[in-house]
Order: sequence, then C-alpha cells, then structure tokens
Amino acid sequence: MDFNYSEEQLLIKQTTHDFAEKHLAPGVMERDEKAEFPTEQIKMMAELGFLGMMVPEKWNGAGMDTISYVIAIEEIARVDASVAVVMSVNNSLVCQVFLNWCTDQQKQKYLPRLAAGELLGAYSLSEPQSGSDASNMRTFAERDGNYYILNGTKNWVTNGISSDLVLVYAMTTKGIGYKGITAFIVEKSRAGFSVGKKEDKLGIRGSDTCEIYFDNCRIPAENLIGEVGQGFKIALSTLDGGRIGIAAQALGIARAALEKSLVYSKEREQFGQPIANFGAIHDKISNMACNVDAARLLIHQAAALKDAKQRFTKEGAMAKYFASKIAMEATTQCVQIFGGYGYMREYGVERLMRDAKITQIYEGTSEIQQLVIARALLKE
Ligand code: CAA
Repeated sequence: MDFNYSEEQLLIKQTTHDFAEKHLAPGVMERDEKAEFPTEQIKMMAELGFLGMMVPEKWNGAGMDTISYVIAIEEIARVDASVAVVMSVNNSLVCQVFLNWCTDQQKQKYLPRLAAGELLGAYSLSEPQSGSDASNMRTFAERDGNYYILNGTKNWVTNGISSDLVLVYAMTTKGIGYKGITAFIVEKSRAGFSVGKKEDKLGIRGSDTCEIYFDNCRIPAENLIGEVGQGFKIALSTLDGGRIGIAAQALGIARAALEKSLVYSKEREQFGQPIANFGAIHDKISNMACNVDAARLLIHQAAALKDAKQRFTKEGAMAKYFASKIAMEATTQCVQIFGGYGYMREYGVERLMRDAKITQIYEGTSEIQQLVIARALLKE
C-alpha cells in the first residue's frame, strides 16, 4: 500500500490550500454572519476546474481521481465548509449522475457546462415526511404524452436557490415502494417550478438550502434519467459517492479545529505557563490528531475503492460516520480549549462546531450510516 500522494495529488493539495487561504479565509466569517452565498468564490473555483473534478476531460472536466477530489474538499472545508458543500453537491451528487446514468445526448446538453461551473446543480431526494426513509416520497410525476407532469414538495435542497438545474426523484408508479421511483433532470426555468425561502441554519450558513415546489411542472420525457423505476438505485448509489465528499468535508473541519487548538494552546498562558504544557490539553490534542488521521485513512480507503470501480457502499458509510463523529468531537474540544474566547463568535471556532453538526445529518444521518454498515457486515 502506497501512502504517498502522486505529484498531481500534491499539486491539487497545494492549489486548493492556497486558494482557500487567499480567497476563502478573508470573508468566511462575514459570509457565515450574513448567510451569504459565495458567488464570486464559486466562480473562481469553477475557473480552476473544482466543480467538475472527476469528470473526464472529454466532457470538459478536470479528469481527476477521487483521492484528488477528497484532498481538495478537505482543504476547502478546512477554511470554509459552506463552500465545500456547494462543491461536493455539484461534483458528487450531480456530475456523477450524469456520468454514470445519463445518455450521451443528456451528457452533451448539460455535463460540459456543469463541469465548467457555468451551470450549478442540486440533488433533491428528501421531502417533509421522508428523510431517512427516503423511498417514502409523495412527489409524483405523471406521464402525459412526451412529457411528465410533476407535483409535490421537496426539502433540504442544498444549492436549491443558486442552482440552474435539479436532479429530482419522484414517484411514477404508486403502491410499489422504491420500485416506483424515477429520476429526472429538471431545469429551474420550467413553469410550475418554484423555490421556497432560504432556510436559516445553525451552520454552513454560506450555502443555501430551501424547499422546492412543483405545481403541474411539465418536463420533457427525454429528461428522464436511466429507466422508469430505476430512480432509487440511482439516488442511493450516487449518495455512496456523496458520502465520501461529506466525510472529507467533516475531516477538513476537524483538521481546522486541531490546527487552531495547537496554535492557541501554545499562546494562551494560565498559571504562569502556556496551557500546551498541561496534560488535559495533551489528552485533547492527541485524540484529535489520531482521529483526524484515522478519518483520512477511512476516506481514502473508500475513495480508492471507488477509483478501482469496486463497491464502496459500506466503506463510504464508515468514512462518513467516523469523520462526522470526530469532527463534532474535535470542534467541541477546540471550543473547550479556547474556553470563554471559544464561545465568542470573534474567534471563529464556534463556527467550526456549528458547521460540523450537519455532517452527522445530511446525505444520510449517522444512524443511517450505522444501518448501512451493519447490514453490509451481516451480509458478508
Ligand atoms: N447502491 C445501489 N443500490 C442500492 C444501494 C446502494 N448503495 N442501497 C440500496 N440499494 C438498492 C437495494 O439493492 C434495493 O434494490 P433491489 O431490491 O433491486 O436489490 C433497493 O435499493 C432498496 O434497498 P433497501 O431495501 O436497503 O431500502 P430501504 O428502504 O431499507 O432504505 C436506506 C435503505 C439505507 C435506509 C436508504 O433509504 C437511505 O440511505 N436513507 C437515507 C437517505 C439519505 O441519505 N438522504 C439524504 C438526501 S440528500 C441530502 O442530504 C441533501 C443535500 O442536498 C446534500
């Protein structure tokens, strides 16, 4: 096993690190405070190829592997987790569906522009009554000649406001459970499509999240992805990859917490010496460091399996479960090390704790990851 990064991977690490320090760090607190979408920053990232990292060059992407992708997400999330999720959704949940499930015609129409960041994508599975129980959806798509007519409500749609198109999962046949779900490409300009208010969130406030509504929204049948009834499989297999991205986002947040804890504990003096001299601090920072490295290994394991075109459902769930858990722990410990200062917005570490929490919830809660892991283990 080779633990060294290739030259290309080292370059992407350096490039994303420098980009994040130069272009994301200066405004991150303000974007969080104002819940402001990073429009300019996403535009710059698009120009650097960060929005279609794993899309082959043939389709206008950067043609990189998944290891490069998780390296990039980690570096971006270390500075701004909101930007990381915008990037993760477009790369993992949108471009990957086009690559794996769409026809050449559909690819030609959308993928080069998605990969170049000229179009931003969103992925819409959840509904008010169906989160973890994702197949229990009510949004219905009824066939009408060469069209489908969509009706229903979706929620928690990341990029819902800023995106140009949304991949929507809807029932096309009632009463047969997940076998009745079909996936569609829906351009937001379609009549009958509307977005709800921007959600006011605890963390990742720079990204936008909203409900979307379909009121007799007519979409051409040619926008159907794969086959009728294949939607749930498309949704879940895509989430396998999405979960690796979210795990890398959690890892970036955890690493930020570790790095800030190291700097602060050497500066802060109590009882006549830096708090870095105290055993209680050693305990916290050593734990964080072990967990950060262990999470990265799990993420790279899942990414390597994906690149080798092997099934990685369990490994992706393990990576997300563990990385999000240690991100929550590390950020809480970081606030503890900063003490009263950590509780104040000014120091920027309470944001890490707020941003970390969502990684245990979206793209499948920790409890769902445990279910996926346990089911796979019991089947083996
Ligand atoms: N890949 C491909 N197919 C899969 C699969 C996978 N990873 N997991 C399951 N399937 C297939 C199964 O093989 C089965 O098909 P067959 O009968 O043909 O074999 C079918 O899907 C149904 O599988 P299950 O019986 O396991 O389904 P279930 O109803 O028990 O649910 C679940 C499984 C794991 C609970 C699933 O519903 C799940 O992952 N829920 C969480 C949903 C989720 O992550 N939502 C996040 C939405 S996105 C988001 O967060 C917002 C955002 O914008 C970032």
